[in-house]
Order: sequence, then C-alpha cells, then structure tokens
Amino acid sequence: MIIARSRQELQAALDTKRGSIGFVPTMGALHIGHRTLIEAARRENETVVVSIFVNPTQFLPGEDLSKYPRREEADFKICELSGVDVLFYPDVAAMYGSDEVRVCAPDVRGFILEGASRPGHFDGVLTVVMKLLNMVRPSRVYFGKKDAQQLALITQMVENLFMDVKIVPMETVREKDGLALSSRNVYLDEKQRVEALKLSAALKEATKMVMQGNLDAEKIKEAMMNLLKPLDVEYVAVVNRQFESLKEVVIGNTIVLVAARVGTTRLIDNVWM
Ligand code: PAF
Repeated sequence: MIIARSRQELQAALDTKRGSIGFVPTMGALHIGHRTLIEAARRENETVVVSIFVNPTQFLPGEDLSKYPRREEADFKICELSGVDVLFYPDVAAMYGSDEVRVCAPDVRGFILEGASRPGHFDGVLTVVMKLLNMVRPSRVYFGKKDAQQLALITQMVENLFMDVKIVPMETVREKDGLALSSRNVYLDEKQRVEALKLSAALKEATKMVMQGNLDAEKIKEAMMNLLKPLDVEYVAVVNRQFESLKEVVIGNTIVLVAARVGTTRLIDNVWM
C-alpha cells in the first residue's frame, strides 16, 4: 500500500496504476461500515484508493473537530489488510489555502434537517468531496446510506456540475443489537450506548408500521417520538429520495430519518423504504 500525503504524491502513486479506480473518502476511525465500502471498491475496481482526512470545513464552531477520533496506526492497518492500493492521508495545508472558492449546498435541500441543525456543514462536505474527486478522478466513489442527506447532496453536485463519476450507495452496517456503526459511537459510555438503541428501535417501529399498511407520516413520526423519549431529538422526518417532505410513505421512494443527542453525542440514523 502506498501512503500519499500530498497531491503530488497521490498523483505519482496513481500514475503507476491502470484501469478503474474505486474511491472511499473517509474521516478515519475506520469501522466495519468503512470496510464494507472498501471491500465493494476492491471487488469492482482494479485500483482502490481510500482517503483519511478530518475535514475542518464541515465542522461548525463548537463541534467535535478537535476531539474527533484519530487512529492513524489502526486505520493504516485496516486499509492494508483490506487490500487498499493507495491511502491518501493529507494534512489541512495539503487540502486548503487561505482564501478559496467553495462549493455551496443548494438552498432548499442543503438547509433542511442536517443542514438546518448544522448550517454550513454541507458546504464543507461538498467542497472537500469535490477536491478529493478532482484529485483521485475515480471511476466509482462509495458512500454509506447512513449519511443519507450527504449522499443526496453529493449525487446532486455530481449531476449539476457534470462530474464524471459513478456514485455507489452502500447499506448502513449495524451492530447485532441494531446500533448503526459510526465513528462517533466511541463517545458513548455504557449507559448512553443503551440509550442510543432508541434510534434504531424507532426506525424499526416505523418499518413495522409501514409493513402493516400504516403509511401516514405524522402517525409514524409520533410513534417514533414516543420511543425516542427522553432523548433530545433534533428531528424525525419522512422524506422522498429528493428529500421532499412526505405526508404518506411511498414504498420504494421514502427515507425515514432521525437525529438525536445522547448525552452530548449527536447521532443520526435512517431507514430506506
Ligand atoms: O462521510 C464522511 O466521512 C465525510 O463527510 C466525507 C464524505 C469523507 C467528507 O469529509
């Protein structure tokens, strides 16, 4: 595995490769969810590139940028064992200058739900993903469905800016008890981890209601809110794949989402139906 720390090193590494490139952008603290993305990239491409970069522009002031888990040694090992060919591991200076052009999230989809809770977050995500895609120039790029709104916005960016890359969405990976894997789960103590299960339990209830023919979005959200008590819920939402709010679930074109704080840790989860 080649470790590239600058754009020049990345370019030199990519110059030695032929065929399709599968790319998995990450912020590190890799878990099985990331490994699933890497394995799919490995199966479907000649070359696999992973980036690890804790992107400062997607964190709001007061968020967890400084304490975001950084696990260089373990992450490098996971990448090596997963068959990654090139690991891009830049520092902030390799990615950003002082006064730069940025990508802006679209007005509506960028400023609801996650965008409302974290204004500016998606501008940072889109900007860094644009930079990374321009540097790696992959055939396919892999993202988890857990960050559903991020996935929708990146898909829109790729379409709107006529970028030549195929986005491959991958299912959320969960612990046996339902907790969606997230690098931020390490912030949870034992009691909070149990509390955090309320998110997946609420989504399970939403799925059950839909399977029983209860498609009313308000009723689904009410049932979810009851199960989420006493967590500090930021939102529960029933939207279509375009992130437009739905009054009724449309099977095949609905995402039910939740964001809540467990202690000081902000968790998100969703189910696609
Ligand atoms: O999902 C993430 O880990 C990040 O938002 C991403 C896409 C790597 C951009 O920093």
